[in-house]
Amino acid sequence: MTAWTPLHLRDVTLPNRVWLSPMCQYSADGDGVPTDWHLAHYGARAAGGVGMVMVECTAVAPDMRTTARDLGLWNEQQVAGHRRLVEVIATVGSVPAVQLGVAGRKSSHGVPWDNAGTRSAVPPREGGWQPLAPSAVPFAGLAVPREMSTTDGTRLLEDLERAARGAHRAGYRLLELHGANGYLFHEFLSPLANRRTDGWGGDLQDRMRFPLEMVRALRSGWPEDKPLVVRLPAEDLLEGGLTTDDMTTVATRLGTSGVDMVDLSSGALVPESLRLTAPLHNARYGPLFRTAGMRTAASGLVFEAAHLDEAVPGLVDAVFVGRALLRDPYWALRARGSDPIESWPRQYHRAF
Ligand SMILES: Cc1cc2nc3c(=O)[nH]c(=O)nc-3n(C[C@H](O)[C@H](O)[C@H](O)COP(=O)(O)O)c2cc1C
Repeated sequence: MTAWTPLHLRDVTLPNRVWLSPMCQYSADGDGVPTDWHLAHYGARAAGGVGMVMVECTAVAPDMRTTARDLGLWNEQQVAGHRRLVEVIATVGSVPAVQLGVAGRKSSHGVPWDNAGTRSAVPPREGGWQPLAPSAVPFAGLAVPREMSTTDGTRLLEDLERAARGAHRAGYRLLELHGANGYLFHEFLSPLANRRTDGWGGDLQDRMRFPLEMVRALRSGWPEDKPLVVRLPAEDLLEGGLTTDDMTTVATRLGTSGVDMVDLSSGALVPESLRLTAPLHNARYGPLFRTAGMRTAASGLVFEAAHLDEAVPGLVDAVFVGRALLRDPYWALRARGSDPIESWPRQYHRAF
């Protein structure tokens, strides 16, 4: 088995295990609807031989966006826009998937190119909104969030279920919940962001309670025959934060809650936490999570074909590739190497 071997998850066959990692384009039309940029960007990567195109973090509600230019899935206009995207991705030969996001305290900031790459809060008077989070503990540089009430929680679970139904109706074949990188799911899990004293805070079992509700809500809006993936940190790597023992416990619970795979992506709970420094950083945690009975994928500093050989099957079942595919939509075809005529689109065969 190699990274180019198909993978079956529920009723979906992924033609290979090299997948486009979800990457925000901050290019929605302001109402969360995909634009022609998304069609061109995802279409090119789908033609570039990845087995799955994971469309970027797509918000389940307006106040759960990171920025005003995020994609959304809470109304019919957005579902129609996503349907166009799905058709392009599937037509050129990849499996269309979408990541649903709930930004939590990392909500309401500007797009990266407006502020030299750093996140800065956009207040309500400038078109932003107040973030909601497990506790009123801010992410440095962003607004102090409002602590979620049980009413907020009920509303969010409805938003998740509706977004999952929308993703299904748009034609997506795989759904991922963004549970990592300091977004709301991760904030509930981590004792560094969750200071609650009610039933949603306390020890790991209690901190897991709302995240598991989120998964249940998604599963009830997403058909049984389609796979559900959760992007998770493997650990916080911060004093007092989540450990690998905590996270394998979480993964095991996800496995019994209808989740088919965990996608490991550590860091970013706080600005100074972990910058990726070594190839396959997250994939190296893969074997720990396999023993929790889950299928595993990971992203992080995969820039060479040799990294794919090292990762699959030794470390993980599949690899998400991010920045290498931003630089070059045909990265996967080049990494595959040996038989260009077979693997490149037939429209391009005369190039060889
Ligand atoms: C421009 C950009 C946008 C990103 N947006 C998302 C996102 O929407 N959801 C997510 O889970 N990760 C996001 N990430 C993280 C990537 O999916 C990936 O995990 C990370 O870049 C590490 O993989 P790489 O070294 O192959 O790029 C983003 C990364 C970049 C560079």
